[in-house]
Amino acid sequence: MGETEKKALFSAVQPSGAVTIGNYIGAIKNFVALQDEFNCIYAVADLHSITVRQEAAALRKNTLELMALFIACGIDPEKCVLFVQSHVPAHCELTWVLNTITYPGELSRMTQFKDKSAKHADNVNMGLMDYPVLMASDILLYQAAAVPVGADQKQHLELTRDLAVRFNNRYGQTFTVPEPYIMKGSGAKIMSLADPSRKMSKSDENPNAFITMSDDRDTIIRKCKRAVTDSGNEVRSAEDKPGVSNLIAIYGAFTGKTAEETEREFSGKGYGDFKVAVGEAVADALAPVQAEKARLLKEKDYLNGIMKRGAETAARIARRTLSKVYRKVGFYSGD
Ligand code: TYM
Repeated sequence: MGETEKKALFSAVQPSGAVTIGNYIGAIKNFVALQDEFNCIYAVADLHSITVRQEAAALRKNTLELMALFIACGIDPEKCVLFVQSHVPAHCELTWVLNTITYPGELSRMTQFKDKSAKHADNVNMGLMDYPVLMASDILLYQAAAVPVGADQKQHLELTRDLAVRFNNRYGQTFTVPEPYIMKGSGAKIMSLADPSRKMSKSDENPNAFITMSDDRDTIIRKCKRAVTDSGNEVRSAEDKPGVSNLIAIYGAFTGKTAEETEREFSGKGYGDFKVAVGEAVADALAPVQAEKARLLKEKDYLNGIMKRGAETAARIARRTLSKVYRKVGFYSGD
């Protein structure tokens, strides 16, 4: 398929602290897998991350680290557009316009807003509430047909679709209505190792609840050994075995094995052996990624060059959509 026939795909990850294997399995792994099939545009969503308090120096560091991680995971900067969200002003500009067709009730009922408001009760800010509109802008600016995300972002994508349809109905065809691209099965929602009824989250206070992409081998194996499993001793994926099912999903994501293959491999063996095997598989898979990321971080000029070039390309595409939007809503162009 030629470049022009490929559909556009957009996704982003926030540079707010460590990236977990949940982010990797639910999102970044698919970013890599989809890069030949689509024209892919991937951003470091720094504008989103300031909706909860960030330390400025840490945010700067995490932004560069996430860019390096994208590439170390296998995203090819020659094939994909990689950029930092705040480098392309159109994201904020479109957000303003979309705000005028979004109702407060739509935003206040978002699960993530409710969760984060409860968690950061001392900082329930307008940005936190407006988060999904900025996300819609990210996606719609690039006329993205597909958006690979974890299951927790589904509600935000539904709002994005609603806003695209609403704008198109009001002003005429402007935006592509995007489809979520959510992995089938449990990879779309990797659960906490400490409490398998909750999502694995980088903001969990308990560091044993998640594995980060930069955890070392011993830490990874220790966290897997400590993972909360269910009663019984049989390695089997089942609804009443959320802990073991989660570990099977993690094992599968890093080894390519299906749940059935894993069940067969560990039949007759107990949880103990299985947990060590999961830890080793994760550590083996992450070692080359960590080495490549460390190497890239020493090449700051190279990374800066990628994000500069990415921002220029992204801005060009985004500007095309934004100009169309401005014309449709009636902003006088002066031309
Ligand atoms: P963030 O940084 O919170 O998460 C990045 C991606 O990781 C997925 N994810 C998970 N997948 C499986 N299991 C988990 N435990 C898990 N935790 C997180 C998220 O679903 C996400 O795909 N709001 C977005 C960032 C964003 C964005 C966008 C995404 C900003 N603009 C436009 C798509 C399109 C987010 O959740 O980031």
